[in-house]
Amino acid sequence: MDSLCFEYIVLTQATLNRGNLPVMDILFACSEAHPLIKTGGLADVSGSLPRAIKNLKQEIRLILPAYPVARGNAGILRLVSEISLPGSQRPVRILHGRLPHTRVQLYLIDAPEYFDRAGGPYSTPAGKDWPDNAARFALFARAVCAVAMNQAGLDWKPDLVHCNDWQTGLVPALLSLQAKRPATIFTIHNLAYQGLFGWDQFKALQLPHDWWSLDTLEFHDKISFIKGGLVFSDWITTVSPTYAKEIRTTEFGCGLEGLLEHRKDRLTGILNGVDYQVWSPGRDRLLPQTYTARTLESKLKNKAALQGTFGLPAKAEIALFGHVGRLVEQKGLDLILDLLPELLKRPMQLVFLGTGEARLEQALRKAHRQHQDRIGVQIDYDEKLAHLLEAGSDVFLMPSRFEPCGLNQLYSLRYATPPIVRNTGGLADSVIDANGPNLYQHTATGFVFEQARPRQLLRAIDRALNLFNRQDVWKDLQQTGMREDFSWSRSASTYVDLYEQVLKHPRTTTPDSPGTSPRQKLSEALI
Ligand code: ADP
Ligand code: GLC
Repeated sequence: MDSLCFEYIVLTQATLNRGNLPVMDILFACSEAHPLIKTGGLADVSGSLPRAIKNLKQEIRLILPAYPVARGNAGILRLVSEISLPGSQRPVRILHGRLPHTRVQLYLIDAPEYFDRAGGPYSTPAGKDWPDNAARFALFARAVCAVAMNQAGLDWKPDLVHCNDWQTGLVPALLSLQAKRPATIFTIHNLAYQGLFGWDQFKALQLPHDWWSLDTLEFHDKISFIKGGLVFSDWITTVSPTYAKEIRTTEFGCGLEGLLEHRKDRLTGILNGVDYQVWSPGRDRLLPQTYTARTLESKLKNKAALQGTFGLPAKAEIALFGHVGRLVEQKGLDLILDLLPELLKRPMQLVFLGTGEARLEQALRKAHRQHQDRIGVQIDYDEKLAHLLEAGSDVFLMPSRFEPCGLNQLYSLRYATPPIVRNTGGLADSVIDANGPNLYQHTATGFVFEQARPRQLLRAIDRALNLFNRQDVWKDLQQTGMREDFSWSRSASTYVDLYEQVLKHPRTTTPDSPGTSPRQKLSEALI
């Protein structure tokens, strides 16, 4: 069955199952959303989850800052309100439109002094954090709260505000000061990014003084925006069941494990979904050649195009390993770099697409210079090339040290590109190892290894190379992965059920926190 048709049926059933339950009004706040602006998976989720929730007949509206790129990509926008907010010299404008290709209403917060600049949403064109990020996202949070409390002249009050990552962490905190506030949910997409700022910035934000305390926003002599979400929200979610458990441990908790353990009864892991309208090889317009499980041989045209793009010899028989991602320690790229001498002894080519830390960019460039016929590197952010890399590679490398959910492994399953992943977070929840019993039962979808050590990764790579040469087994592995269904319908229903559950709980206005203990240095706790 065509996957669009399948998704439609699942959605229709989910909608019917909801019967005549009342429609909820939800405000979904985030700092990036595809196709408006994207630096990583948060944008993929924020661009597709609201649409899936809207399909479940809920009234969900998206709100994010009006960065110039987002405005440019948003299509027709209308000025619907101007409000005065602490922290902004000039009135803040609210622009209204639709998230492209959806029925989801969109609000863009237009505060030119903070958001109208060249560069990324969080960093300068040179890749440094904007020095006024605290003020920028505090202003955004105040704007979200004004909309949430129906104080922005929009004649609409949500029942619930769904916040995402540290950039929206102050929203649950600020709303806790309001009587008759909407319920709040805070989703952790990545606990390693916390929005930490010094005392001077805290003072400048004019927040309640007693929020500089362990029980509220203070974290090792800094103000922590993410703690706003973790301490004050009515419910916390994160993006996979395994990560929901991991973040309550010292290894993954980034110093916040005590707080998360304390709130464990209100912490749920919900696996992200995939927008198969964007990520399906059968109808991907960004590919030179589309293909399905029945026409897998057409995948080879994408392989040849990928080899051509990266200047590698166009050989169909050599295994092509690909990696796309932010070049940061989390993603375990250094494990691959450590193995390069070993990998070059094997019949394989490697392609990398990413931007990030200078040391990793330099190491990749150097590897490419030294082995131009074996290693292809593009230090770039390129959406179209990311699709080609998913389609043209034979194996997708994702050896993350930790991975709250991860989307690239889900895309690679659908693109018949079995992933190699570490047994952590959403990777553990989505990839089934190609061990003997799983292969025998036709349930295997990729290669899973345990510890973030080069030797363990190498063993997984060797297992993949071995199976790659057994074409019948390989095809079975590819087709099993393609059949896996990670569409949003199931997760979106879970979110809607959770919204209903949260709305039934009485709302508190006091923080739910034991502080963070033990007080260890954040740098020690970071993985
Ligand atoms: P994270 O959010 O931690 O970066 P995910 O796997 O959840 O990781 O999502 C990453 C998303 O960003 C995917 O859609 C991936 O294709 C995209 N992406 C990351 N780096 C690049 C890049 N250099 N060029 C194009 N897309 C990229
Ligand atoms: C974060 C995580 C990633 C997750 C994404 C979307 O950036 O690093 O694992 O898939 O958010 O939730």
